[in-house]
Amino acid sequence: MWTIHHYDELPSTQTLARSLFDEAKAGHGEVFVAAHQSSGRGQYVWRMWDDEPGANLLLSFILTDIPESISDVMQFVAGLSVLSTIRTILDRELRSFDASRVKLKWPNDILLDGKKVSGVLSEAVWSGQSLKGVIIGIGINVNQESFPARVASKATALKHILADTLPLQQTRDLLLATIEYTLRYYTDRARLLADLRSELEWMKSLSVESATTPDGATFSSLTISGISDSGALIVQTSEGTEHVLQSATLNFKA
Ligand code: BTN
Repeated sequence: MWTIHHYDELPSTQTLARSLFDEAKAGHGEVFVAAHQSSGRGQYVWRMWDDEPGANLLLSFILTDIPESISDVMQFVAGLSVLSTIRTILDRELRSFDASRVKLKWPNDILLDGKKVSGVLSEAVWSGQSLKGVIIGIGINVNQESFPARVASKATALKHILADTLPLQQTRDLLLATIEYTLRYYTDRARLLADLRSELEWMKSLSVESATTPDGATFSSLTISGISDSGALIVQTSEGTEHVLQSATLNFKA
């Protein structure tokens, strides 16, 4: 399914995949991998994705052949695929590994022992009302030993709990094989939502200090009560008012 293009350095695999797709020079199943990005992009314009050259997995891929039943929840297919890939690797490397040490944090962060080990960026490309394709970018911190001060307390890498450096190519191949598999497995949307809800259940015990949506609305003192059928976060204020957040940045109480 995949055609892989490898680069030693790029500004961003996501920017490259997007512009080649827009110019009709790349399509379904093409994967852009970089050993280093000089301007890696995060989920928000203000959030950069930094990496130590050669240490991590950084890739973006294009999907146009998207099952109708899950076209609006592709970011969760990607997030659950990354979660499964990381658990498989750690389980193999460490033999007895407690899978709950790796968690999905809504919408798309993957945490290892409470610190971010991977992030997913999903961009839908529309032609009027019809979905032309989705470009998914994934960064997994694999072998990076140390992080810049501003993220050091919040970021980690697989290497932090492993004795040896992991081969990036094998990690990439396992991730892509897992994505190919989950794309078929989660064509059953009910199955996807059930797995998503079960993976996010742990977040119900967190207190959300504030949530800000992309249009600037802010809600304070929230608890998480569930996940809607479109993958939105259902929250409740202390007065009991419910809000459904399709997209939001969350600040948690310590
Ligand atoms: C996030 O958690 O904010 C999403 C991070 C996504 C990072 C990946 S690295 C490969 C791809 N290229 C980019 O510029 N960003 C994504």
